[in-house]
Amino acid sequence: MTHLIAPSLLSADFGNLQKDVEMVNQSNADWFHLDVMDGVFVPNISFGFPIIKFIKKYASKPLDVHLMIVQPERYFEEFKKAGADILTIHYEASTHLHRSIHAIKELGMKAGVVLNPHTPVSLLEDIITDLDLVLLMSVNPGYGGQKFIENTYKKISLLKEMILQKNSKSLIEIDGGVTLKNAPKLIAAGADVLVAGNTVFGSDNPTETIARLKG
Ligand code: DX5
Ligand code: ZN
Repeated sequence: MTHLIAPSLLSADFGNLQKDVEMVNQSNADWFHLDVMDGVFVPNISFGFPIIKFIKKYASKPLDVHLMIVQPERYFEEFKKAGADILTIHYEASTHLHRSIHAIKELGMKAGVVLNPHTPVSLLEDIITDLDLVLLMSVNPGYGGQKFIENTYKKISLLKEMILQKNSKSLIEIDGGVTLKNAPKLIAAGADVLVAGNTVFGSDNPTETIARLKG
């Protein structure tokens, strides 16, 4: 499989969101990455249902919704209704991860777990075969435009090994500090999906940047 690109709309122009959604529709990107933050699990607050519904109305590609919120299970149904195709929840915010992953799947969405930079991949051993994807945070969640944490490469290798060994179909997604420079190295290390916010929306030609990330 060739790798997937998921531009993060956190760095988009919210004054003209429709334009950026249409740019992604027409680009080589594969998914829309939407970052939901509650000001409790992470120090920042981003956006919620009305914005997701608006994006869904115009988006022609799947919505990959990354929940940075406490007790995410309270809202699975509402995210489905808002248009989420893929829902990822943090390991650090989920006491009953197995129950939550299956609840997401029963609602007809793909389900994934997100690990903060300090959380070891070995903790996924007993859930990896239930997952559609694992999102490895390569920055501390909360903000766009931060510096990539180099330890992520090691985590990708360990995760890839676990996935192969357990015969899991899980994809590996990387989020935070992805650039044109580190993208090929991340793919070579075993990443399947790259999220990019600042690299795409901070560039002069976002469509071309997406094409370059796609390789
Ligand atoms: C950070 C978010 C990321 C963010 C990535 O908490 O999860 O998706 O938008 O932004 P960049 O690519 O700018 O690091
Ligand atoms: Zn994200």
